[in-house]
Amino acid sequence: MLRVSKAKQIEGTIRVPGDKSISHRAVMFGALAEGTTRISGFLPGADCLSTISCFRRMGISIEQDGDSVTVEGKGWYGLSEPHQRLDVGNSGTTIRLMAGILATQPFHAVLEGDESIAKRPMRRVVGPLREMGARIDGRQNGEFTPLAIRGGKLKGIDYRSPVASAQVKSAILLAGLQAEGTTSVVEPHVSRDHTERMLKAFGIDVRCEGTRVSVSGGQTLQGREIVVPGDISSAAFLIAAVMMVPNSSLVIEQVGINPTRTGIIDVVRAMGGRLEIVNERLVNEEPVADLHVFHSELNGTVIEGELIPRLIDEIPVIAVMATQAKGTTVIRDAQELKVKETDRIATVVSQLTKFGAKVTPTDDGMIIEGGTPLSGAEIDSLGDHRIGMAMAVAGLAATGETTIANAEAINVSFPGFADLLARITK
Ligand code: S3P
Repeated sequence: MLRVSKAKQIEGTIRVPGDKSISHRAVMFGALAEGTTRISGFLPGADCLSTISCFRRMGISIEQDGDSVTVEGKGWYGLSEPHQRLDVGNSGTTIRLMAGILATQPFHAVLEGDESIAKRPMRRVVGPLREMGARIDGRQNGEFTPLAIRGGKLKGIDYRSPVASAQVKSAILLAGLQAEGTTSVVEPHVSRDHTERMLKAFGIDVRCEGTRVSVSGGQTLQGREIVVPGDISSAAFLIAAVMMVPNSSLVIEQVGINPTRTGIIDVVRAMGGRLEIVNERLVNEEPVADLHVFHSELNGTVIEGELIPRLIDEIPVIAVMATQAKGTTVIRDAQELKVKETDRIATVVSQLTKFGAKVTPTDDGMIIEGGTPLSGAEIDSLGDHRIGMAMAVAGLAATGETTIANAEAINVSFPGFADLLARITK
């Protein structure tokens, strides 16, 4: 149970934990590479620890101490057939990217996760991997876990994805690295491109032209050092808190500002928020900077189209922020919210209305009425880390006390969230 009270001010200089997407990929690519990969700034959250445990079960030696990880890669075919099922916990990135990797392996493996994972759609990766020649079975003809995969020889495909999803794109590209010929993925909008950038850092030739990404089969990865920047999706909770609490300002150091992830910055600025990007640099092909954030009076906005994949994980906290803006905020084209860790249209609406917020669900998003005073409420994270954190931020702007049940879900992506919040809040 997490307790939050109305905040008078937020102030400080902080760092947020490492980027979740980049941490997963660093472990996976390190395990498949030849030689040692040393990772610093790794996110020791439950999701990324699930990725580590899956590779350990396939015979890869991985040492992890806080945010330092050493992976002893044995090359792409150095994985061994796991004796037990591979448990991905709550992690959609682990299961979908692993499906692509396992599709290439000459053995049998079973992937499964928690109750949330059991409800999430898997055919979006199973379908194209089957087209490439992988044998994959799961409940409802491969739509749901557990997934049983017998990989082997694959052929490249030219795949037009119906969704802008980095997990789908990455699964197909990873399989494509060991398929015959070229594999391409075309998306309706560009999704996060950490796979493409990190594969390049590991020595792979990846071709990107607009929304099309292609790789050729038969390439090998070379182990290397990876420095993981802070996760902008974690920073987003603090950015929103600063915008909502008067007299606040915060410096968030060393945050990843990959353009496929910075929709939150664009939206905060479009709403009239003051956010400065300072000390920009490039680390392992990923842009990194310090963010200086200042409390601001916000206006409502419209969030749609190509912006959606660039801020999909930030929508719960954007909805919270919009309750305190002047005017209405409309979020559309975000059907994908329904298949995240929870149905985030339903869970944002059900929890945020407990504070007295006026939020109307739509088929592909929600409409939030701004200028609504919030009062402390009894909230449930419903097992979704981002719902737990977004509602904690709402609690900072609400009168009285807010309690958040099932707050341990927050450890999935932001261990230390409650302590950090307490440290910077007056
Ligand atoms: C992720 C991709 C996104 C995102 C998730 C992490 C990744 O999911 O929501 O938190 O690391 O590739 P989708 O690919 O389903 O959009």
